[in-house]
Amino acid sequence: MKSRILILGACGQIGTELTTALRQKYGNHKVIASDIREGDDEMMENGPFEIIDATNYESIENIVIQYEISEVYLMAAMLSATAEKFPAKAWQLNMSSLFNVLNLAKEKKIEKIFWPSSIAVFGPSTPKVNTPQRTVMEPSTVYGISKQAGERWCEYYFNKYGVDVRSIRYPGIISWQTLPGGGTTDYAIDIYHKALKHNKYICFLKSGTTLPMIYMDDAIRATLDLMSASSEKIKIRSSYNLAAISFEPEEITASIQKQLPDFKIEYEPDFRQNIADSWPQSIDDTNARVDWEWKHSYDLDAITEDMLKNLGPKYNS
Ligand code: SER
Repeated sequence: MKSRILILGACGQIGTELTTALRQKYGNHKVIASDIREGDDEMMENGPFEIIDATNYESIENIVIQYEISEVYLMAAMLSATAEKFPAKAWQLNMSSLFNVLNLAKEKKIEKIFWPSSIAVFGPSTPKVNTPQRTVMEPSTVYGISKQAGERWCEYYFNKYGVDVRSIRYPGIISWQTLPGGGTTDYAIDIYHKALKHNKYICFLKSGTTLPMIYMDDAIRATLDLMSASSEKIKIRSSYNLAAISFEPEEITASIQKQLPDFKIEYEPDFRQNIADSWPQSIDDTNARVDWEWKHSYDLDAITEDMLKNLGPKYNS
């Protein structure tokens, strides 16, 4: 039986840690990492790695056949802030990569897909607090439009072709191993680096901008749990709301100040403020908690402690 896993976009913020987690769970040789560029030494040395452009159907198909892949995690995407600068390119990357994997499953060349969606599927007309699973969705960013359309296609492929596709609407993900690129929630990572480096952070969002966030360890666990849950438990085939914590820049600042009392924040909001203002402040993830027993474990202070502990040596603190 085919039983290998392929990760597309393995060198990105989530892909890097997902690769490590899947290799730990299933064995290094069972997990094929891929991206459009080579990864760091750990990624390249610990298991198979292939250069794949996720927008190229044939190059994914070749690797699927060569390694007898059964599951694909599609982590390649252009995030919200970059997508506003390159709308056509973002749409092309985010949608064509998704169709490539959905069609591979439709043709029975793979058995299961993980595809991440985002809180960006919601828009300015969505209720902002405790945003329900099913509600008004009028995303106003290119990234959000691509994720919402993607969700509709996932559900369509499940209903029409029986494709086993599973998805989570990730909140902003905080992590220390690999820097994110081009997201709006990235401030909540950059702030730790700048706290350690300069004891000061100039924030591109305004004070008071509350957004839903999650620590990487929780996000990875959610992903693995969703993918290993039995099929009958997966009642939502578009994408699951997922929540952990919500905070605004003043709160993350206060959490950092518990350990670095002289740390200061200043505000210089830019175009990303509009993106953040269109997103929910908190998420109702009851369906994930009921259907496949999701539960987060990191609160803001636990995240701060782990971030500063792991990033400290990099800045000699
Ligand atoms: N973290 C993403 C971004 O900010 C949202 O999914 O673009």
